[in-house]
Amino acid sequence: MGHYGDLQTQIYQDGLRGVLPDYPVDFATLEKRAENALSPSLLNYVQGGCGDEHTQRSNASAFHHWGMVPRMLVDCTSRDLSVDLLGMTLPSPIFMAPIGVNGEITQDQRGDIAAAEASAMTGVPFCASTLSNSPLEEVANATGSVPAFFQLYTPKNPDLAESLIRRAEAADYKALVITLDTWVTGWRPRDLNASNFPQLRGKVLENYFSDPVFRATLARPPEEDIAAAVQAWATTFGKVLTWSDIEWFRSITRLPIILKGICHPDDARRAADHGVDAIYCSNHGGRQANGGIAAIDMLSDVVNAAGEMPTLFDSGVRSGSDVIKALALGAKAVGIGRPYAYGLAIGGAKGAAHVLRSILAEADLLMAVNGYPTVEALVEEGASRI
Ligand SMILES: Cc1cc2nc3c(=O)[nH]c(=O)nc-3n(C[C@H](O)[C@H](O)[C@H](O)COP(=O)(O)O)c2cc1C
Repeated sequence: MGHYGDLQTQIYQDGLRGVLPDYPVDFATLEKRAENALSPSLLNYVQGGCGDEHTQRSNASAFHHWGMVPRMLVDCTSRDLSVDLLGMTLPSPIFMAPIGVNGEITQDQRGDIAAAEASAMTGVPFCASTLSNSPLEEVANATGSVPAFFQLYTPKNPDLAESLIRRAEAADYKALVITLDTWVTGWRPRDLNASNFPQLRGKVLENYFSDPVFRATLARPPEEDIAAAVQAWATTFGKVLTWSDIEWFRSITRLPIILKGICHPDDARRAADHGVDAIYCSNHGGRQANGGIAAIDMLSDVVNAAGEMPTLFDSGVRSGSDVIKALALGAKAVGIGRPYAYGLAIGGAKGAAHVLRSILAEADLLMAVNGYPTVEALVEEGASRI
């Protein structure tokens, strides 16, 4: 059986023939390459975060104060990174976090499709954002047989919310990820200094512009009056959700519901009480609130409070060893965000697929070296605070 870590042998073998990897395998080099590939405004939007960006830096650096104790004399010649999530068996424990400007990141502005193709190429599930340059149906189609999730930014218009959810069901998305932390945009100095907010420029709004309920609210279709369509979008974006809304979601969809943005154990317990299917511990990569606490430092309390309910995680994951630490702290699946976006920037679907494969290879080799043949084994071992 092949292992994700076999990528390493392949790279060294190719090197013997004088062939070097097209894309870097580490985050620092990847980010540098993406800095050269993206326009300044898009780079600011993807790379930037809230306030002085302390939280987003902490998200990544906090992984350094978690460590894994190696175990020896364990046969790890065969490793299994598969996980069970919401009735699915996924071949690996990672997924692609929703990124609302994927569409803009590739030169052809079809980056959502490229991200979906990267998912199809790697078997890593893609969580498609509501904010997209391609309608969610086309995105789902490009993921092939790999399960995909749909991330909802809940509009104020309930008919529009329901329409988006129905479309996600019809397109065979396997779960509804409801983002809780973004009814209003956080204070992002890089974007403010450049006065750049892509949505207000009519970007990444295709899920709205293609929606019959949204279109019915317009005097003229977006193709004829983009300014009015953007205005209508701005008016409906960002319903303030409270716990009572969760029953409404439950009542209208059969899709498993995942609440994204849960960072407090009490909120995790409340989510369990409301019968949601999973929670997603994330601080939006430090883009929304500059609250100062790294997401990884909040994870284990959230996992403990969640009990049987699975906890997904993202924010600050930059490498395979970060993935392993998040799993050891109890995450059921780990979201990759900016790294795959940078992969899209430098190489489209192939670039993003390479980033995902590199992360999985490093995770697999850490398990091989440290003596954890399965995800269960490393969860049992746990991570230590250094
Ligand atoms: C450019 C960008 C756009 C994002 N768009 C969305 C989005 O549309 N919906 C959402 O729930 N989260 C969105 N996120 C947050 C990601 O899903 C994820 O929580 C975050 O990227 C994790 O942080 P990291 O990339 O630093 O690891 C976005 C993040 C970035 C960087």
